[in-house]
Order: sequence, then C-alpha cells, then structure tokens
Amino acid sequence: PDSLRALAAPVGLRIGTAVNTDLLASNPAYTKILNSQFSSVTPENVMKWESVEPTQGTYNWAPADALVASAKANGQLVRGHTLVWHNQLPQWLTQEASSLSADQLRAILKKHITDEVTHFKGKIWQWDVVNEAFNDDGTLRNSIWLQKLGSGYIADAFRWAHAADPKAKLFYNDYNIEFTGPKSNAVYALVSQLKAQGVPIDGVGFQTHLDTQYGLPDLENNLQRFAKLGLNVAETEVDMRTTLPVTSLEQNAQVAGYTTTLQACLAVKQCISYTVWGFGDAYSWVPGVFAGEGAADIYDENLQPKPEYTTLQQTLALA
Ligand code: G3I
Repeated sequence: PDSLRALAAPVGLRIGTAVNTDLLASNPAYTKILNSQFSSVTPENVMKWESVEPTQGTYNWAPADALVASAKANGQLVRGHTLVWHNQLPQWLTQEASSLSADQLRAILKKHITDEVTHFKGKIWQWDVVNEAFNDDGTLRNSIWLQKLGSGYIADAFRWAHAADPKAKLFYNDYNIEFTGPKSNAVYALVSQLKAQGVPIDGVGFQTHLDTQYGLPDLENNLQRFAKLGLNVAETEVDMRTTLPVTSLEQNAQVAGYTTTLQACLAVKQCISYTVWGFGDAYSWVPGVFAGEGAADIYDENLQPKPEYTTLQQTLALA
C-alpha cells in the first residue's frame, strides 16, 4: 500500500510530522519512515528561541539548518515553529525581562523575529509566528509579551515576520481551539480583527492535541468558519493520548480521532496540511507531561505502524 505522502499528493494535501533532530541524525529506522511517509516537517524544538539563541547574540542554527537541508533533499516543505511563545525562552531573556523597558523588550523581540525569519528566508512554507497567546477561557495569556508590550505585540510580530520573508505563510497557532468555545471564539475574533486591519496573517494552526476522554464535537465546521475569513487552516500537532495500558475501547477511540481529524481537513479546501506531533510512541512528549498517559502516536514503541496509521492511509485513499 502507498505511503501517506503519496496518497495525499493527488488531493493537494501535505502530510507532516514534528521531527526530533537528534533521531534524524542517529536513527536510520526513524529517518526512513520520516522521509518515506511525510511531505512536510516541523522542528519539534530546534527553531525555538532557547535553541537558536542560547546566549544573547550567539546563534545556533546548525540543528535547524540540518533539518531544512534534509527536507529539501527529500521533497518536504517546512513549517517553522515558533517565533513568539511564552515557553522555551532562553534563560538570559527570562532573567532580564523584568528589568527591561517596553521599548527594550520590543527591540529584542523584533530582532529575534527578523534575524530568524531572515536566516531561513525562502526555505519556510508556513511560520507559526505567534503560538498559544490565549488562555482556555479566551483571555490573553499573561506572558512577558502581554505584560510589557500589550496585545499589540501580536500584530507587530506578523508585520516583522512578513517584512523579513514576504513569501512565507504566516500562522497563528494554538491548542484547545479545535472545537467552538471561548478560546476558539477569542482566536476567531483576533484573526478577524488582524485581517480587517490589514495585518499580514495567512492562516490559523489548530494543534489538535487530543485525549480519548474528551470529545471533538465540531472540528470541520470550526475549520470552515476560519477558512471563510480568507485564511488557510492547518492541523499542526495532531496526537491522541489515552491512559495506559491502552484498552481496545480506547484504541478504537484513538483510531476514530485520527480518522475524524483527517476527514475534517480533507473536507475543507483551505486546509493545506495535516501534521502529527511526532510519529513514534517511544519519542512522544505526552508521558513526560501527562502522568500515566501515552500511546498517542501512529507508530508504536518499536516504530511499527498502528491501526492509527492504517486509518490515515485508508482515509486518504478514499479522498
Ligand atoms: O535540551 C534539553 C536537554 O539539554 C536537557 O538535558 C533535558 C533535561 O530535561 O531537557 C532538554 O530539553 C527538553 C526539550 O523538550 C528538548 O528535548 C525539555 O526538558 C522539554 O521540556 C522539551 O519538551 C518540549 C515541549 O514542547 C516544551 O514545551 C517537547 O519536546 C515538545 O514536543 C513540545 O512541543 C509543544 C509545541 O512546541 C507547542 N504545542 C505543544 C507541544 C507539546 O507540549
């Protein structure tokens, strides 16, 4: 049977994964699956600020450059992740942030965005410009960015990124916005306003970190309402965690979750990529964060495909 990327190509969809660049360098079985199954890649960590500028003014591009080169050699597009976030900031920044003036902090953020987007200019398909700016209740997250710069940092970030690489597609990316509710409504209001103000935003990324204990009531309709604003949409970090050990009931729910999320993207013309957040259960971020949960990916601990993989294949074959 055909690979995910081959099955997705005729319908114009890119199938992506987050990539652990340590494994890319060291694990041939991992790399073989990566390059045969996926047509888009997202660095799981190595384009984040703490990774690219561990010491102020000293850039460390090598791991991300290696991924970008590997992607080019393998016909994969790159989702850049992520420019403005509250997490995985370099220590030098979090330590000095409180003593900086708003103008100083704004200049540091502008330099970071400009330097990083310029470094990768022409090589990034979609950039996650701003990541996770909202709380689940729809209020803006109380990050150093909001505290010091006010909500205008979001529009500024998109403008600075666009100036550095006018051809990259610029995304707002968040989790728990797959269903309608306070958070997704707040993102909808934000991006509507950005569009109305002429801010260069091209898309919204729905991370889609799911758990079998929660439902997924209206993903397709929700994607559709964002698409109607004239935006691309993408599922950017799909996984489906559950409690361990996995029962057959839970695995059925996981398979259904992968099926539904892919079907929703396929049903919305403006949905341009479907990305899983890693593909091997042995390397997933989930067990480290949700005690007692895991098995969230489409390949098992030994990099063998699970029914979650097979359903993606079958769903693409029917598209
Ligand atoms: O690199 C250091 C290493 O030097 C150190 O020895 C080790 C000890 O803890 O930590 C390593 O850093 C880890 C880093 O991943 C790189 O492997 C961090 O501890 C660990 O917290 C970090 O986790 C990442 C997480 O983001 C951090 O927020 C996960 O790999 C990554 O999958 C996850 O990805 C996020 C997306 O960016 C945004 N959406 C949610 C998603 C899941 O949390």
